[in-house]
Amino acid sequence: MINKLLKRHKYIAKLLTTQRGNNLALNIEVESYVDSIKMPENVKIGLMIAEARKNCEGTSCPFHYYGFAFGQSPFHVPPPMVDALCTNAHQGHYSDADGIPALREAISGFVNRHFRSDVEPSRIFVGPGTKELLHFVFNIIKGGVIIPSPSWIGYYPLLNLEGKHYHTFHSKPEHDYKIQPEDLDEFISNLPDKQHTLVLNQPHNPTGLVYSKHELESIAEVCRNNNTFILSDEIYALTTYNFEDFTTLENIYPEGTFVTNGLSKDRSAGGYRLGYCILPEGSSDKLKEDFKKVAATVYTNVSTPTQFAAVTAFKPNPEIEEYFKITRKIHQLMGQYFSKEFNNISGISATTPHGGFYFYVDFNEHSEALRHAGAATSNDLARSLISHPYHIATVTGDAVMLRPDDYGARIAFVDYDGKAAFDNYKQNPPRGAGGAEEFIKQNAPQMVSGVNALRKYVESLQHESEN
Ligand SMILES: Cc1ncc(COP(=O)(O)O)c(C=O)c1O
Repeated sequence: MINKLLKRHKYIAKLLTTQRGNNLALNIEVESYVDSIKMPENVKIGLMIAEARKNCEGTSCPFHYYGFAFGQSPFHVPPPMVDALCTNAHQGHYSDADGIPALREAISGFVNRHFRSDVEPSRIFVGPGTKELLHFVFNIIKGGVIIPSPSWIGYYPLLNLEGKHYHTFHSKPEHDYKIQPEDLDEFISNLPDKQHTLVLNQPHNPTGLVYSKHELESIAEVCRNNNTFILSDEIYALTTYNFEDFTTLENIYPEGTFVTNGLSKDRSAGGYRLGYCILPEGSSDKLKEDFKKVAATVYTNVSTPTQFAAVTAFKPNPEIEEYFKITRKIHQLMGQYFSKEFNNISGISATTPHGGFYFYVDFNEHSEALRHAGAATSNDLARSLISHPYHIATVTGDAVMLRPDDYGARIAFVDYDGKAAFDNYKQNPPRGAGGAEEFIKQNAPQMVSGVNALRKYVESLQHESEN
């Protein structure tokens, strides 16, 4: 009783002190691990640019940001999905933690139609976006995780949050940043764990690379021999410009691959938060149950109306098929044009994307000039590019898991009005190289100006280092 009173007294004393000092705010302490979590770079920069643009509306701005950092699909959600979401808004009940049966059936049909994979619905696990499903795989599957660098900015923060151990596998520009099976074999042989998970993402964020069937077979062979599962992040699969070039790892290494995909990129519905994971063929009932119980514990189920709407997103639908074709074509026009323009800038080497909406730019030829200009590490490259008077927003350094002395940047080419570009393309598809250039200048003028800003930035670097 006395202890209780003392505790209460201390609490009130603390409360009063805080109130006096801090305008009624309590001192809320957070767990120390939270301090190691950072807001993702692209989100930070994206929010800053959105805020700057909002403040600029209606007034004449002293300058504009060139937004190559934030990688969200610029297009609208396909109308049949919007209608389906409205129709299902009344579905207020809780639903299955692993996904409603109709949706798992629809996804099974979808992967069969598009990827020629034969996956029974019981292997399909629905989640609130693929990010959460990646989190589950990292969390549930034992052993270290291998992340090829440069990488998508999302893997490292998830691993860090979980305290999961990981190994960075540095891919090389001379191999177009593709994983070389011999290098992978050697790399894995030196790892301590008995079991590993390799994250393989294609079309790749940030390089835009796509693996051939043969390349995937060689990588799968190494993984088979080294007790290594593959987490095949195929979120950009349907944006592959020549779609017949895309091979899913499900068709190559079904017994050892977790495939993740969802609605965020090819159907521009990142905010719907709906993804799926195909568990390896032959997965035990226990593994399926393990995924289900973690999902039920953490979030109960993915929003039920969204799951019902997603049935429409995965079932055959001519309007959605046309949407895939047009958006893929526009990504291709933009990716090829802008990577070529970047490559034309002295000392800059850009990858040519084959899918998705990113390419990767190597600035290492300018490393001495960059150091001279005060950019001591790859993290500083982003700061240098966004500084006045250039205002070029990119993601560099730790965020894409680069070594500190590796001056590389991820370029997202989505800073344009996607709906307008979509309608323009549909009405009048550009013909030939001239038509493509015209289309880009008309639909993505801000990014065209961004290339000019980069050209000036590089000229100033060269100029400064000569003086
Ligand atoms: C390579 C990659 N994987 C996964 C994701 C996450 O997608 P989702 O919206 O399904 O969580 C993204 C999104 O930016 C991505 O680029």
